[in-house]
Amino acid sequence: MSNPKSANWQKDVAHVVHPYSNLDAHDTRGPLVITRGDGCYVEDENGNRYLEGMSGLWCASLGFSEKRLVEAATKQLNTLPYYHLFNHRSHPPGIELAEALTAIAPEGLNHVLFANSGSEANDAAIKLVWYYNNLLGRPKKKKIISRLYGYHGVTVASGSLTGLVHVHRDFDLPLPQVKHTDCPSYYHFSKPGESEEQFTERLANNLEQMIIEEGPETVAAFIAEPISGSGGVIVPPKGYFERVQAILKKYDVLFIVDEVICGFGRTGQMFGSDSFGLKPDMMTVAKGLSGAYQPISGLLLTDAIHDALKAGSRKHGAFAHGLTYAAHPVAAAVALETIKIYQERKVVEHVQSVAPYFFERLNKLSVHPLVGEVRGMGLLAAVEITSDKARKTPFPPEAGIGAWIQNKAMEHGVIVRAISTCIALCPPLISERSHIDELVDGLAKALDEAQAHFGATVPA
Ligand SMILES: Cc1ncc(COP(=O)(O)O)c(C=O)c1O
Repeated sequence: MSNPKSANWQKDVAHVVHPYSNLDAHDTRGPLVITRGDGCYVEDENGNRYLEGMSGLWCASLGFSEKRLVEAATKQLNTLPYYHLFNHRSHPPGIELAEALTAIAPEGLNHVLFANSGSEANDAAIKLVWYYNNLLGRPKKKKIISRLYGYHGVTVASGSLTGLVHVHRDFDLPLPQVKHTDCPSYYHFSKPGESEEQFTERLANNLEQMIIEEGPETVAAFIAEPISGSGGVIVPPKGYFERVQAILKKYDVLFIVDEVICGFGRTGQMFGSDSFGLKPDMMTVAKGLSGAYQPISGLLLTDAIHDALKAGSRKHGAFAHGLTYAAHPVAAAVALETIKIYQERKVVEHVQSVAPYFFERLNKLSVHPLVGEVRGMGLLAAVEITSDKARKTPFPPEAGIGAWIQNKAMEHGVIVRAISTCIALCPPLISERSHIDELVDGLAKALDEAQAHFGATVPA
């Protein structure tokens, strides 16, 4: 942690409200103040350097010192620091970004509505689903099915979609239109003796049953991340999305794919949709869109949905939705440059070349007494922590083993993230083998120390 006597520490504790932090404990534990970034590394105010094995919040895909993005922002600030897209106005970075994004997106997503964050993009998706069905004369078709342990943000609609209890409790969420179906984690939720195919079949049947019970005329959309990130890096079982997509088609339910983490090379393809053969009606992107150098997100739409929006304007006039900073020219210029870098430097191919090594190194941790499973794809992974490998028993939350491992890893100079019962890893897409070695070595040391510390409860 940072020096308690530092001015930053004092001012932070006095005034900053920290997201996803224990606000009561914060007064005494204080902040970790990060002051610099360099390649895959960040540095705190005391000069400690860390390999950022989480790319910040799954987002700094090009690391922390990409000069081309700084230049793109500076150039745009010097040319046109702000303008908007309301009332038929436009600007070159917004136009060019929309063209570049729809060119690389899965087929049929030809239109983009910009926003500033993943939560806002998902919120817009829900609003547009409702608007679309009203315009099609189906006012009852409004329910959205999301998944337990899915993560889609924290705003009122997006927080409702998120399938995590702590995002709902005492916030009066979820909204009544949102229903949650099963989490597709075979490790956590398969029954004894159930094969992966049988697990997929059970989940698909449950989804279909939910649609039938709710009434297909009331179910508007289903939302999913290709790989759930913040719910614990959950890779769907074999055949899962094929079955899900067939059911959605059968009941005329729109498919919203949340590519906020998976988009832009993370899974080893440009989009998670490409990795899993998904055909979204709507797709949300953020994070890697700008390498996180600027806040920007987008909601991509098919012609059919865009046509409904046009019908809305024939009925009501102006499309009554928009955000002051959506497609901010500086953010758009940075995102455009980010996409150019992904393409010019063949970042997707780079991920494909280092990912096998990433998993070769991680899979060696599978034999560790504390490790129940290693899972993931591309440069996105989780190491599941267990107190009993055979029974897949997690440590009780009050043991705090995840946070303990995370803190030990930091002592070894690497940032990883404890999420529910796993340790997540999401290194910058520019990582080389040497970074992967450093990251996995740091985590391995932390696991050994955890084994020594918590080992009494772990069978040998
Ligand atoms: C898959 C996914 N969707 C949406 C969000 C929300 O994005 P934001 O924090 O930018 O609102 C996140 C954030 O981690 C995410 O992982």
